[in-house]
Amino acid sequence: MPTQQSATIEARLSEQKSFPPPKSFVEQANMKDPGIYERFENFPDGFVEYAELLDWDERWDKVLDASDPPFYQWFVGGKLNVSKNCIDRHLDTRGDKVALLWEGEDGEVQKITYRDLYKRVNEFAAGLRALGVKEGDIVTMHMPMVPELPIAMLACARIGAPHSVVFGGFSAKALATRIDDAGSRFLVTIDGYYRRGELLDHKSKADEALSMADQEVEKVIVCTRHGGLREGTTLVQGRDVLLSDLVAEHEGETVEPVPRDAEDILFIMYTSGTTGSPKGAQHRTGGYLAYVTGTSKYVLDIKPDDTYWCNADIGWITGHSYIVYGPLALGTTSVMYEGAPDFPHKDRIWAIAEKYDVDIYHTSPTAVRMFMKWGREYPDKHDFHFRHMTTVGEPIQPMAWMWYYEVIGHKEAVIVDTWWQTETGGHLISNLPAIQDMRPGHAGKPLPGIGAKLLDDNGEEVGAGASKAGNLVITRPWPGMLQTLYNDDDRFIKEYWETFSDTRSKDWHDWVYRAGDGAFVSKDGYFRILGRLDDVMNVAGHRLGTMELESAVAQVEEVAEAAVAGRHDAQKGTVPDVYVILREGVDPSDAVRGKIVRAVEEEIGKFARPANVLFVDDLPKTRSGKIMRRLLENISNDEKLGDTTTLRDPSVPERIREQVGGT
Ligand code: PRX
Repeated sequence: MPTQQSATIEARLSEQKSFPPPKSFVEQANMKDPGIYERFENFPDGFVEYAELLDWDERWDKVLDASDPPFYQWFVGGKLNVSKNCIDRHLDTRGDKVALLWEGEDGEVQKITYRDLYKRVNEFAAGLRALGVKEGDIVTMHMPMVPELPIAMLACARIGAPHSVVFGGFSAKALATRIDDAGSRFLVTIDGYYRRGELLDHKSKADEALSMADQEVEKVIVCTRHGGLREGTTLVQGRDVLLSDLVAEHEGETVEPVPRDAEDILFIMYTSGTTGSPKGAQHRTGGYLAYVTGTSKYVLDIKPDDTYWCNADIGWITGHSYIVYGPLALGTTSVMYEGAPDFPHKDRIWAIAEKYDVDIYHTSPTAVRMFMKWGREYPDKHDFHFRHMTTVGEPIQPMAWMWYYEVIGHKEAVIVDTWWQTETGGHLISNLPAIQDMRPGHAGKPLPGIGAKLLDDNGEEVGAGASKAGNLVITRPWPGMLQTLYNDDDRFIKEYWETFSDTRSKDWHDWVYRAGDGAFVSKDGYFRILGRLDDVMNVAGHRLGTMELESAVAQVEEVAEAAVAGRHDAQKGTVPDVYVILREGVDPSDAVRGKIVRAVEEEIGKFARPANVLFVDDLPKTRSGKIMRRLLENISNDEKLGDTTTLRDPSVPERIREQVGGT
C-alpha cells in the first residue's frame, strides 16, 4: 500500500486550486449537460447513448447480459462492422475530408482522405483474404508509426479477423512469445522506419522472431517505408509478400464489411502483469467501439471538423482507442507522426501543431516533463492554439500540469487527465471537461455509468476525504472492458477479480474489478491516482512487469538471482534498478553488466533497459522466501526502510544499502 508519507503529500495536494474550464470551451463542448451522470445511473441502459453513436447492421436485443460474471456480454445480439463505422459511413458526408494525416520523420506527408482510406483498406482486406486470412484468424502486426498500421487494423476489422498489434519497440523474442500465445499464422511488418534521420532496419526482427516461435507463420506481409525495399532487407520465398505487390494485384477491389457479432473479438493487446508471461487483453467489437466513440466525443470533445492529435504510439492501447477507433468512428482528422520529438530540432512537435492547425492535443506526463525540461522557447516559437489537451498513462505532477496549462495551452485550453488501462479499453476516470473544474494532479471523477471506489486490503471501503489511500476498484461492468485474457479465463479471474469478489456468486454486484492502482479520493469526489500497487512498473508511460524483467535477467548464466525495483526518475516517472546476485566464483564486472542489459534488450526491447545494475550478496527475503521488492525500492530511492520484521534476516537491506553505496 502507499506509504504514510504519500498520505501527507495528499493532504497538501488536496488543497490544490481548481481551474474552471474556459468559457469559450464550454460554449462549444459536445457535452455540457450535467444530467448525463443521472442518465447513465440508469444502469446499464445509459450506455445505449454511446451505442447509438454507431451504425448497427442489427440492433441488440439486450444491453447487458450479466448472468455469468465476470464474463459479461454487451449489446447482445447486435451486429456491426468496425471498419464500416470508421470509414464507409463517412463517405457520403465527408469522403474528401482527411481521415489520417501522417507526417514521416523525414518530412514526407500523407493526407489520407476517408475515400483514400476506403480504397486502401479495401485493397488490403482483399489481399488478406487472398492470402488465406479468414474470419476469426488472428493477424499479428509489428509496426512503427506508419499509415499502413491503422490501415491493416481496419482491413482486419473489415473481414472479421482480430488483430494483435505488438509495439514496434518490442524485441524479436517478445514478438515470438506473443505470436505463439495468439496462435497467429499471419504477420504484418515493414522493412524499416526513420528514427533520428536514419532508415532503421525493422524486418529482421520479424525473421528472428519467426525462427524462435513455435507457431508456424504462413504469410508475412512486408510493407515498405520508402520507395523500394530497404537495402539489406531480404524476403523469404513463399512466406513473405510485399504489400506493394499485394495491393497491385487487388487494385480497386472492394470487400463487403462482414457483420460481426457485438461480442466477437475485435483485437487482443498484450500487456504486462504480475507474472513473467504477458497477458492478452481480449476486446470485443460492439461494446468496445461504443465506449471509445462515446468517450472520444464527450471526454476528448472530438468533432468531425477538428484536427486531433494523439501523440502516442498505436502499438499501445491509447493509440488503438484514441488514434484509430474512437476518432475515426467520429469522422475526424487524426494526426500521426512517425519519429522522434526532437528531430531535427526540439520544436518539431510544435511545428507540426502549427502547420496543421491542431485543435486537440493528447500526450503523456513523461512527454510534458521532457518539453518542460527543454524549455518554453521551443513552443513559444510557434503559433498554435489548442482548445483541449489530454494527459494519460501516469500521474502528472501539479507543477508539470501547470506548465502544460500555461505554456502549451496558453490558459485557453482545458486539460483532461484520463485514468484508464489496457484492460479497460477506454477512459474510466476523468473530468467531462465542460462540466467539472480541473484540478492539477487529479484524474477527476468516475465517468458516466462508471462505478469506482477505494477499498482497503480487507475489502472495507475507504471513503472520500479519508487521509488514507486505497485500492482502486471498479464496481460495475462497462462496455469497453476486456472480455477475458486470451485463452486464459482462470488468469483473468485471478488477476482482476478474485481479491475483492465473491467468486462463487452469480450476482454481478458481488464482482469487483481490482485495477492494481492505489488512489485517494478527495471530499468532493476527485480521484488522485498514486500508481501501481502490484509488481508492475510504469516506465515513461510504458507498462513493465518486474517479473518479465527478472526472468530476462535470469537468462544470463552468470546471474544466480535477480530482483527489480522501481527508482523515481524526474523525467520518466520510474526507471528499473536491477539487483543481482552473481553465481559463485563470478566477479562483478562491466562485462557482466553489459550482458544483463543486452539480455533485457533481447528479451523485451530497448525501452525496458535497466537504469542501474547493482551487484549484491543477498536479497531481502521473507521467511517463506519471497523477495520484498518494496525494501529494494526504499534503497533505490534513498528512503527510510519500511517494515523489515518479516524478513528472514532483517539486516540484509542495510547491508545492501552499504554495498551499493547509497545509489
Ligand atoms: O497505473 C495506472 C497508469 O497506467 C496504468 C495502465 O497502463 P496501460 O495499461 O499501459 O495503459 C496506459 C494508457 C491507458 C494504470 O494502471 N495510469 C494510466 N492513466 C493514468 C495512470 N496513472 C495516473 N493517472 C492517469 N491518468
